[in-house]
Amino acid sequence: MEKFFQIAIDGPGGAGKSTIAKAVAQKLGIEYIDTGAMYRVLGLKMLKNGMEFKDSSDLRMLLDNTSIDFRDGDIFLDGEPAGHLIRTQEVSMAASACSAIPAVRKKMVEAQQKMGESKNVIMDGRDICEVVFPQAQFKFFVTADTQERARRRFEELKAKGENVTFEQVLAQIKERDLNDSTREASPMRQADDAELLDTTDMTAEQAADYICEKVRKTVK
Ligand code: DC
Repeated sequence: MEKFFQIAIDGPGGAGKSTIAKAVAQKLGIEYIDTGAMYRVLGLKMLKNGMEFKDSSDLRMLLDNTSIDFRDGDIFLDGEPAGHLIRTQEVSMAASACSAIPAVRKKMVEAQQKMGESKNVIMDGRDICEVVFPQAQFKFFVTADTQERARRRFEELKAKGENVTFEQVLAQIKERDLNDSTREASPMRQADDAELLDTTDMTAEQAADYICEKVRKTVK
C-alpha cells in the first residue's frame, strides 16, 4: 500500500496558519484542508438555526444532517459553497463555541481523518498534531505575538469592508485564545513533538519555505 504523509499545523487564530498552509500545499502539490473552516460552517449553520451552543438532541440531529466537504480547496456546506460567509467576527465566535462541544469534535475529527488518509495533505487547526493525526510525519505549532495576530486579522477584516476597530479584534482574539485553550475537549496546546514556528517577524512565504524545506529533506 502506498504510504502518504501528513503535515499537521496547530496554532491560534491570526498566526498565519492558513496562508502558510495554502502556500505549502501549492509548492508541494498536495491538498490543503482548513479544519477551522469546518467548525466555521457548522457554527454558521447553528447561528442560522438559532441554536444554542451546547449538546442537545437537536444538535445531534443537525450533525447527522450536515455535509461538509472541500472541492478544489473551497468549502461546501450541504452542497453549497460557503467560504465567503464564514470569516465574520460573529461566525468566528460561533465556531469557537461549537468547537468546544465533544459531539461536534467527534464528527469533525472522523471526517478529517478520512480526508487525510488516502493522499498527501497539509491540515491546520488546533488539535491536528495530537488528535487528528498523531502519527503525522511533520508537526508544527505556528504562532505569533498577540498584537501582531490582531493586527493581521484587523487588516484582513478591513480589506473585506467589515466595520471593526483594532481594539475589538484584539479583544476577540484574546477571548477566542482563552476559549480554545481552556475548553475540556482537546484544548489548543503545542504538542510535545511539534516544532514551534513563531511568525511574528516572518512573512507567510518565509514560513512556507521553511516547512517545504523540511519536508523535501525527508520525502524524496
Ligand atoms: O482556525 P480558525 O480561526 O478558522 O478556527 C475557528 C475556530 O474553530 C477556532 O476558534 C477553534 C476551532 N477549531 C478547533 O477547535 N479545532 C480545529 N482543528 C480547528 C478550529
